[in-house]
Amino acid sequence: MIEIRNVKKVFGPLTVINGINLDVKKGELLCLIGASGSGKSTLLQCINGLEPIQGGEIIVDGVSVHDPKTNINHLRRKLGIVFQQYNAFPHLTAIENVALAPRVVLKKSRSEARKLAQKHLEHVGLGDKANSLPSQLSGGQQQRLAIARALAMEPAYMLFDEVTSALDPELVGEVLETMRLLKREGMTMVVVTHDINFVRESADRVAFLHQGEVCEIGTAEEVIDNPRKEQTQKFLRRERRPAISNQTSAA
Ligand SMILES: Nc1ncnc2c1ncn2[C@@H]1O[C@H](COP(=O)(O)OP(=O)(O)OP(=O)(O)O)[C@@H](O)[C@H]1O
Ligand SMILES: [Mg+2]
Repeated sequence: MIEIRNVKKVFGPLTVINGINLDVKKGELLCLIGASGSGKSTLLQCINGLEPIQGGEIIVDGVSVHDPKTNINHLRRKLGIVFQQYNAFPHLTAIENVALAPRVVLKKSRSEARKLAQKHLEHVGLGDKANSLPSQLSGGQQQRLAIARALAMEPAYMLFDEVTSALDPELVGEVLETMRLLKREGMTMVVVTHDINFVRESADRVAFLHQGEVCEIGTAEEVIDNPRKEQTQKFLRRERRPAISNQTSAA
């Protein structure tokens, strides 16, 4: 499991994470919601050891992420991470993209890595796109490719940072479906999202972050449908406002 104990993270004078305590249990899907700047992405990057922390501790399967004695590259293999922006290598085909880390990091043979890559492409519904370049894939397919790349390291945990928010609305569903599939298979997941419907349908628990703190945590029924804190209620009212506000901010 992932244990987050009183974690503090600052960027210069700015406190971004202010004493967060959270547990992510095996097989659980925990959603993180909160306004822009509330610290969601930073928290994922701290879990993954991409960002140092200034207080507290994050423990993954009993290993302290920020302990200098920890082999962070080894630990990171347990933690797949997928971002909003697809980050595939443009000159490599889908299967080459997925096979790369198993070959380089896990030292698998070329044929073993390709076999593993094909398996994970099929897993995310891209079995027939193995030889396509990323530019020949739709946005939704590219995000599923990014998920396949993370899965090819056979992680114990998957961290998702707004993986659907750059997609055209008609492509969102296929990516969410892939995440639901992983959940059904028992993957432990931390999902940063603005998609309240996804939270409602899929999250075991949801944490609302406000100014670097966990303001409210519970089931979707508790936090989304019956929020107790005023900040949560305010945030949800804003999120639920029809797409007009999103369109204006995008324009
Ligand atoms: N590398 C950095 N250097 C300095 N400040 C940073 C850095 N990364 C993030 N921040 C600041 O930390 C705060 C939290 O950022 P973070 O990206 O975690 O927010 P978020 O909740 O993911 O927001 P969004 O919903 O917009 O993605 C913001 O005020 C941001 O400007
Ligand atoms: Mg973010």
